Amino acid sequence: MSQPKSKHITWHGANVSKEERQAALDARGCVVWFTGLSGSGKSTVSRRVEQLLLERGKFVYSLDGDNVRMGLNRDLGFSPKDRTENIRRIGEVAALFADACCVTTTAFISPYREDRDRARACLPKGEFIEVFVDTPLDVCEERDPKGLYKKARAGIIPNFTGISAPYEAPEKAELVLKTAGKSIDECAHEVIDYLVGAGFVAQA
Ligand code: ADX
Repeated sequence: MSQPKSKHITWHGANVSKEERQAALDARGCVVWFTGLSGSGKSTVSRRVEQLLLERGKFVYSLDGDNVRMGLNRDLGFSPKDRTENIRRIGEVAALFADACCVTTTAFISPYREDRDRARACLPKGEFIEVFVDTPLDVCEERDPKGLYKKARAGIIPNFTGISAPYEAPEKAELVLKTAGKSIDECAHEVIDYLVGAGFVAQA
């Protein structure tokens, strides 16, 4: 972990242990880190997972690329440096949510492997679940829900992931979602099944 700017900072632990917190809330937190191209379905699946788990009374929250860029990360653009800082902040925030026993889903392109690995390192082993939303570029471009690919092809949006900026696909994702030809609910249930298997969610 990088060092704080000031040397005069002291870590202050909580009065309750992680185990005590989990027992008190009857919940275990984790980060479900969706990564993939724009239009791949990250937000859609992540939101559906959130909704389905909330219906079961689970403590769950979705952090989403475009929304977080309107608040916490409104000072960041899409240069490699800004994307790295975007993911660094989200990684830290998501880890805090997970520490609070929340099943936290994040939906950011997070195109750089190193950045995702740094987010993974914010959590204890097993609590970071990388979900590669593996939708081919031509399918994302065909969907183009926000009309951004069209603008990127026309040169109106520079550094657009998949067109004029890189996307480094995960090599060790816990889960690979092939969304093409599947329904949103099928994809969401694949994620929930993983969470059940890993003990973060009880069997329905
Ligand atoms: S990331 O690369 O830093 O992880 P993030 O997920 O926060 O990206 O934001 C991606 C969203 O911003 C896309 O879904 C799209 O709506 C929008 N966007 C605007 N400009 C770009 C761009 N140059 N590249 C990719 N997405 C962009």
